[in-house]
Amino acid sequence: MSSRKILVTSALPYANGSIHLGHLVEYIQTDIWTRFQKMQGHTVHYVCADDTHGTPIMLRAEKEGITPEALIDGVHKEHRADFDGFLVEFDNYYSTNSGENKTLSQGIYKALKANDKIATKTIEQFYDPVKNMFLPDRFIKGECPKCHAKDQYGDSCESCGATYNPTELIEAYSAVSGAAPIRKETEHHFFKLSECEDFLKEWTQSCTAQGKTLQGEAANKMGEWFESGLKDWDISRDAPYFGFEIPDAPGKYFYVWLDAPIGYMASFKNLCDKNGLDFDEYWKAGSDTELYHFIGKDILYFHALFWPATLEYSGYRTPTQVFAHGFLTVNGEKMSKSRGTFITARSYLDHIKNPEYLRYYYAAKLNSTMEDIDLNLEDFTARVNSDLVGKYINIASRTAGFINKHFDGKLNPSRNNAVVAELKAAADAIAASYVAREYGKALREIMRLSDLANSFVADKAPWVMAKQEGREAVLQEVCSDALEMFRLLTLYLKPVLPKLAMEIEAFLNVDAMQWSHVDASLNAEHTINKYNHLITRVDPKAIAAMVDSNKENLEKSEAVAALVKEEVAGDYINIDDFTKVDLRIAHIVNAEYVEGADKLLKLTLDIGEEKTRQVFAGIKSSYDPETLKGRKTVMVANLAPRKMKFGMSEGMVLAASDGRGGPFILSPDSGAQAGMAVK
Ligand code: MSP
Ligand code: ZN
Repeated sequence: MSSRKILVTSALPYANGSIHLGHLVEYIQTDIWTRFQKMQGHTVHYVCADDTHGTPIMLRAEKEGITPEALIDGVHKEHRADFDGFLVEFDNYYSTNSGENKTLSQGIYKALKANDKIATKTIEQFYDPVKNMFLPDRFIKGECPKCHAKDQYGDSCESCGATYNPTELIEAYSAVSGAAPIRKETEHHFFKLSECEDFLKEWTQSCTAQGKTLQGEAANKMGEWFESGLKDWDISRDAPYFGFEIPDAPGKYFYVWLDAPIGYMASFKNLCDKNGLDFDEYWKAGSDTELYHFIGKDILYFHALFWPATLEYSGYRTPTQVFAHGFLTVNGEKMSKSRGTFITARSYLDHIKNPEYLRYYYAAKLNSTMEDIDLNLEDFTARVNSDLVGKYINIASRTAGFINKHFDGKLNPSRNNAVVAELKAAADAIAASYVAREYGKALREIMRLSDLANSFVADKAPWVMAKQEGREAVLQEVCSDALEMFRLLTLYLKPVLPKLAMEIEAFLNVDAMQWSHVDASLNAEHTINKYNHLITRVDPKAIAAMVDSNKENLEKSEAVAALVKEEVAGDYINIDDFTKVDLRIAHIVNAEYVEGADKLLKLTLDIGEEKTRQVFAGIKSSYDPETLKGRKTVMVANLAPRKMKFGMSEGMVLAASDGRGGPFILSPDSGAQAGMAVK
């Protein structure tokens, strides 16, 4: 087979959240495929990046009091560490907020425009009059028009599942400022997708030497979308927006979904510049290299309509194939923060530690369809322990010791062991399953072969032979054959278990395994190294601890959310909030030092009530008590009384201060009398 040139991508994760086990379905799926293609000897580049633009990222940075750049830098480091932790080996992991991406995005826009594929249109959009920004649907909330649940998002109700337009919400408000949104006109830029229908209809049904461009289910979905008619795609957003400005339209920015997939190209461009690869060879129209996108089914619309059309009409090649996968459920249900099943990549690495358990489990469940896959935590433990520890590693752990101990590591395999022959004969079928992303099928076959190898070892019972005189040669032969089986199984599992495979290569004393090494053999010249324990069982206690830790994360994030809510409430209060505070003019009847208090003065205040109030005020640093006697000031009269070390404090006087000095108490104009309300 001749060597092919292949570019592979996974969807670019948003830079405003942590990687979780749902994301990892995709990155692990892609990584396995890429590693397999590399083992075939093809030239393969696997690129990805953080998806950094858009309103949510802008607002989150603002909330955290940092720049969007600082936010995305921090998340970039975190994402990279998570992917490393799961052995997801990108050839480049970049950012959509890069010079390369800006140049490419603007270039593509200009090409689309030159091709008469861009139109401008004035539209009406929701606008936050307090925050002075246009609001994405996600940031408009209100009462559901169907079930009247409060605080629902602009596009759908989480309570009854209804979908609607933000205009239908009752008492809509901006999730950013709380203000009632207004409708405002603005000019937007559109990509004329409606003119791409013929091209897209053909492309979505197309087929290359590598197979169908889209999976059957995906092509069907396209059919439905064509039936309902393609609408022009709104690709611009108004300032303030974190993204790239549109070249000929100051104050207008590319919508994040325009520059996000161009981020695939930008990451590859960055790799080319580092490694001397030819960018155009992979991206220009008519390229004979291959381009594959792995995505989740939720973003099919972007990758099977907008993206190929964007490429086609800007002079670039279109994808060879788009592979969509389903969504992860945990214990049969949608991942849930409150159940602790919204599991972050980091918490898995902290608690379970070994990433290859999850790689194996996902691979065992994955196929080429868009069906959801379930991570059942009990099944996970059972499957990993029985397949990896009980079947696969068992072959080496029951035989290697005899070779090390009795034969100084030297092998002496038989000439034609039937089980070895059967294992070798399975190579093409297993390879075909990997190519077709039928990993579950590949692993079922590999486990069937592991069973054969285990039965071989069990039948021969080398542990019995080792105790019998004169059976050394057979013992060496049986164990050598078993290790050859183990070598083949390791090779087959290597795309899924790359780290374990490397450790086994070191133990078997062989070169890094390529798929072609199926045809090699451990021969009589070969010596292996000492066998060390390779893998431990999954500990159910670690799983429970991981789930608990994700519940804790939730508590933390709820606490943060509560703070944010308070902040919003603190920015703007309504008149009712204000009138809750009973402010009164107070006559300072007496003021004195308090023994043992550094900052406090004790004030006796007349606010026109029967009794005077006693208030401790932190103003000792600015006032001699004598000068205060007889003055009038302002106090909060309905603050709950507070017991202090020096006595009860029955209110609070107002005073101004900041870095420039203070505290300075307030004085009313002449005419104000003790007890008057301040409002
Ligand atoms: N930023 C966009 C993709 C832009 S690609 C040019 C995005 N980001 S994401 O962080 O929400 O998702 C990244 C990938 O992870 C997507 O392909 C998405 O389908 C996948 N998954 C996110 N949650 C998932 C599950 N719970 N299960 C399986 N895949 C999931 O979309
Ligand atoms: Zn509802």
